Amino acid sequence: MTLEKPTQAALDEGLRTMVAPRNPGYTPPSDAAHGQTAATAPQYQLRAHPEPPPVPNGWYAICAATDVVPGQVLSVIAVERELVVFRDGDGVPHVLDAHCPHNGAHLGGGEVVDGAVQCPYHGWRFDGSGTCVEVPYSDARIPAKACIPSYPVREQDGFILFWFHANGAPPPYEVPTTEEVGHPDWSDPYEFRFELVAALQEMGENNVDYAHLCYVHGRDFVPNETSEFTTDGPFSTVVESLPDGASFKRHAWGPGVALLRVPGVTTVLTTTTPIDRRHCRLLWHFYFPKAMEGIANDIVLGFTGTYGLQADLPIWRDKVYVERPILVKADGNIADFRRWYAQFYE
Ligand code: FES
Ligand SMILES: [Fe+2]
Repeated sequence: MTLEKPTQAALDEGLRTMVAPRNPGYTPPSDAAHGQTAATAPQYQLRAHPEPPPVPNGWYAICAATDVVPGQVLSVIAVERELVVFRDGDGVPHVLDAHCPHNGAHLGGGEVVDGAVQCPYHGWRFDGSGTCVEVPYSDARIPAKACIPSYPVREQDGFILFWFHANGAPPPYEVPTTEEVGHPDWSDPYEFRFELVAALQEMGENNVDYAHLCYVHGRDFVPNETSEFTTDGPFSTVVESLPDGASFKRHAWGPGVALLRVPGVTTVLTTTTPIDRRHCRLLWHFYFPKAMEGIANDIVLGFTGTYGLQADLPIWRDKVYVERPILVKADGNIADFRRWYAQFYE
C-alpha cells in the first residue's frame, strides 16, 4: 500500500495529539529562515565545512522487497557506492558493486539470465557472489580476477538489507524480525520514502536529543527525566514516557535500522541508508492495529509532516558536524549515544 501525496490541509490536520505543539504561539521553523537557495546565494569562497564522519558499518536497507522484480536489475546508490540488486533463479536477492570488471560497464543496464546478472556490454555473467560464471563468446578459462565485490544480504520484514563494512568484514550481528509484520491483527505496511541532506549519525543523535523537541518540534517540556537510553552491543533503546501517560520505545538495530513502537497506535520499521556522508534515504514501514487504520495516513503525517520530520530538515541541512560538542548535563544522552555509536566506525 502506498501513501497518497499529502495535501497541506491533511498535514495541518495530522495527528496533532502525538506531535502537536503544546507551546501556545509556537510555529515550526520555516525553511526560508535557514540559509539561502543556490539560486539566490552569492558565490562566496568560504572555508570548507568539517567533513561529517564516514559511512558507519551496519545493516542498511538497499530497497523494499517489492522493488526487485525477478529478471530485472535494480540500480541503487548507497554507502558512497553504485550498487545493483537482483534476484537469482531461486528468487534470493543479491547486492553487487555496479561496475563490470571486464571493462567497466554498469550492470544496471543488464538483465538476469539463468539466475546470474548479465552485463549489457559484452554479456559476461556474474552470480550472486559476484563470481563470473560465463564469458559467452570465449572458450578460454574465465580469469580468476573476473569477480565483483558482493555484500551479505537478508530479505526480511519487507526490506532487502545488505551489510556494509568499510574493510569488508562479515556481519557480527543480525537485525531482529518484527512480530507485527504479517500478523493478522495488524495492517499491511504504509510506506514512506524520502531523501534528505543529513549525516546519518546526526539523524540518529536526534532521537536522544531531548532539548531540540521544544525548539524544533514545539513541545513545551524537555522529557529528560522520563527518557532512558540504554545499549546492548550494536543495539540501543530509547524509552520515552510522557506526562500524559503515552510512551514510545525506539530500538536501534545498529546505525541503519530501527523499530519504533507507540503502544496502541503504530509500530514503525524505519530504515535510514546513507547515500554518502551528507545524504540519507529513508524507507519507513508503518504498521497499524486494524482498529487504527482509519487514521493511518494522519498518523504517518504526524511523524513525517510539519511538526515531525519536516521540522528537522533545515537543521540537518544547514548544520556542521561538531566532533566535540559542548554538552551540558541535560544533554547527557548525546554523550552516551556517541559512545555507543563509536563502535560502528573503524
Ligand atoms: S564490460 Fe561487462 S562484459 Fe564487457
Ligand atoms: Fe527531531
